[in-house]
Order: sequence, then structure tokens, then C-alpha cells
Amino acid sequence: MNQPATELENLPFYLKDNFAPVFEERSDNDLRVTGEIPAQLNGRFLRNGPNPQTGHSDHWFLGNGMIHGVELENGKANWYRNRYVKTPLLADRDSDPIEAIMDLRKSSANTHVVHHAGKILALEEAHLPFEMSPELETVGAYDFGGKLATAMTAHPKTCPETGELLFFAYGIFPPYLTYHRVSASGELVQTEEITVKSGTMIHDFNITRNYVIWMDLPAVWDVENIDKGGLPIAWDESYGARLGVMPRTGGDADVVWYDIDPCYVFHPLNAYEEGNNIIIDVCRMAHVMVPGDDAPAYLYRWTINQDTGRVTETQLDDRAVEFPRINDSVVGRKHRYGYMAGLSTVVPVGERVIKFDLERDSSQVYELGDGLECSEPVFVANPDDTAEDAGWLLSYVYDKASDKSALMILDATAIELGPVAQIHLPVRVPMGLHGSWVPQDY
Ligand SMILES: [Fe+2]
Repeated sequence: MNQPATELENLPFYLKDNFAPVFEERSDNDLRVTGEIPAQLNGRFLRNGPNPQTGHSDHWFLGNGMIHGVELENGKANWYRNRYVKTPLLADRDSDPIEAIMDLRKSSANTHVVHHAGKILALEEAHLPFEMSPELETVGAYDFGGKLATAMTAHPKTCPETGELLFFAYGIFPPYLTYHRVSASGELVQTEEITVKSGTMIHDFNITRNYVIWMDLPAVWDVENIDKGGLPIAWDESYGARLGVMPRTGGDADVVWYDIDPCYVFHPLNAYEEGNNIIIDVCRMAHVMVPGDDAPAYLYRWTINQDTGRVTETQLDDRAVEFPRINDSVVGRKHRYGYMAGLSTVVPVGERVIKFDLERDSSQVYELGDGLECSEPVFVANPDDTAEDAGWLLSYVYDKASDKSALMILDATAIELGPVAQIHLPVRVPMGLHGSWVPQDY
């Protein structure tokens, strides 16, 4: 970006430095590798993020989605590709993303990319999913054979035991919260409207073996200010804050609500049942969307006592963290380990990778070093080893000195030793949001 210094200074964080969008869609096959790519990694690492095609957007969350992918096979890196998710919003350059909120197909599709039942879906929380090919070409909007009539969260959960995909939609207008359950084969089999007081930003949720747990938190959509640009969401503690526990096959009448102290959680790490308690580990912020007062997120544990109706809240660590991931085979079951990016400011730039051992109350850290920045560390299990931390953490790392990025692979059992391999890319990958490992046989 060759912008004058004063103009750069005035840009919001999400349009400058390595947040600035890139404009070229590339396909590169000849990638330099240092270290040794684990031969068990056969598939594609895909990561989504906002990349406004005009170079500008009114909020980080509003840029057009671009997916960056690297294919690995038998210890080799076959390709790097980056592609916009080609939605009707991308086709309409002058479209206002806030106005597009009423059209389920006008998605920025910029938040996550997941796979389920043989489909790769690019997700953003206010619109339909967009199906992608494994080579990152856009197939089109996906509505589960006409059955999905709401948006879809960017954080669905795949149950490792049943193979079901559980997810929800929140609405700025009624219905404010809708639950959906999809079978392992990809059929939408249950839809339930859930009663909440108003439209709030519900970014993520939790599942356990038997329950889903809603986070009804006071980031309230402020519809009257919807035309003023940015995201019209107001922090309003008078709304209250509560967790809603619902059987996975239940509905609105079955939800038991538990009051908690006002806070905001974009991302839980995981939830599980222990006797009649439900444990939820979260990256908890004191508040969100308070202009000029950004709050960092810290690792907390909520314990819902279903007998007493009380929730206890414990701070587990005092380092700012975000983008928490676990081994996906323990989603909804007791986890020992959590992996996340460590931040030094409220700007979501990872300066270190932290592995928490929640059983031993300890952690390991890999400091990236000066001029290096990472994003979410995605855990990929070693198919030959069932230990919970047997696998690797994959993340794009940006190097300020070269203005290029690499795909970093850490051994999750020994992250402090640094990367076992780096796949050097010919370009930079802008800081982004969430990603997935898509195996060859997805
Ligand atoms: Fe997210």
C-alpha cells in the first residue's frame, strides 16, 4: 500500500498494515518450504477473512470475504490460492452491506469456512452459507435444499459423536434467535424459534453431549441507527446477561435461563457436562461496542450449577487472548487443552501462540518474535495418534520485513520449539478471522 503517511495514520486498524486488503486472486504451485511438512497432513488449510473489494469498509466485519488456502499432500505443499467468495454482494460493488442485511444472499461471507457432509461452506452470521469447491471456486448460496429460511451463524458445531451439525441464526428483526439441527448426512431435521427479549449480536454458542447453551448478552442491535454506517450495536447492560441451557433435541419451552454478570464473549473454547454442572471456557470481555473503550478478552470459566441455578465465574489466566481452538474430536466433551492467539493490544493481532493445559493449570508459549504476526491457530489432529494434543497448529504468519506470509505448522505437543515447517507464500495473507482443515476425504 503506497499511501501517504498522514492518510495511513487516519485509517482504522482494519484497513492498514497487514489488515489492508489484497486485490489479486492468485494460484501458485511452486512454494518454498523450510522444515518438514508432516506426511499425515493430507488436505487443505482454508482461512476466511474480510477483504473489502473497494479497499474500504465501515467496519472490519463488513469487508467482502476472501479465502486463502494451501493444499498439503504427502509432505508436499501443492498450491496456495486466494479467492473472493463470489456472492451477490461482491457482484454489486456499490451495495451497502447494512442495506444488504435484508437479503439472505447478499452476504459478505467473510467470517469462517467449515466442512460438513461433503460440503465446504463459507459463513458469515447474517446470511446464508456459500458453498465452495475444494479449489476455492464459489458454487453458490446453500440453503439445505430449501429448508433454511434464516441466516446461519459463522460458528456451527459438529458433534464428534453423532456427526450432527448444530447451529443457530440471530435476527436484528424477529425471530431474534432460531436453532437448527442438521443430521450427519446433511439434512436439516429440526428448526426451533427461541424467545429472547430483543435482537442482540450472538456470535457463537456452545454444545455439550446433551445440551446447547445460548449466550444472551447485552450487545443490542440499535435499529434506529442502522443507516449511520459501521455496525449499529449498542452496549446496554440494562438488557441483562444470561446463559440458556436447552436439550439438543428440545425447543423454546425447554430452555432454562441463568443470569450472569454483564460481559461479552465472541468465542467460547468449549463446553462439557460434569455431573449436573455445565463447564464453559470462554474468551470473556468486560464489554464490547463501547466507542473508544475496547476491552481485551481473557480466559474465563463459567460453571453452571443446574441444581442451584447459579453460575460461578472464574478467571483462568491474565493474558489477553482470542481465537480459541481445541481438538475438534472433543467438542462438547471434556477438554484438557486449549490453543489460542496471545495479543498485546486490543487489535486482534496474534504475537504468540499459547497452549493451555487446563488439567494442570499450566501453559506453553511460542513467541513469534519481532515483526511477525499470526492469526487463529487451527488444531489438526494426527490421524495416527488419539492423544488429545497429538497434532499440529496451523496459522498464517505475516513477516513485516518481507511483507509476505507463510503457513506455519507447530507441533501441538511442543509448540515452544517453534515451527516444524513453514510454507513460504509469494504474497502476504491479510489478518483474518477463522479457518478449518479440510481433509482429502471430507
Ligand atoms: Fe468468530
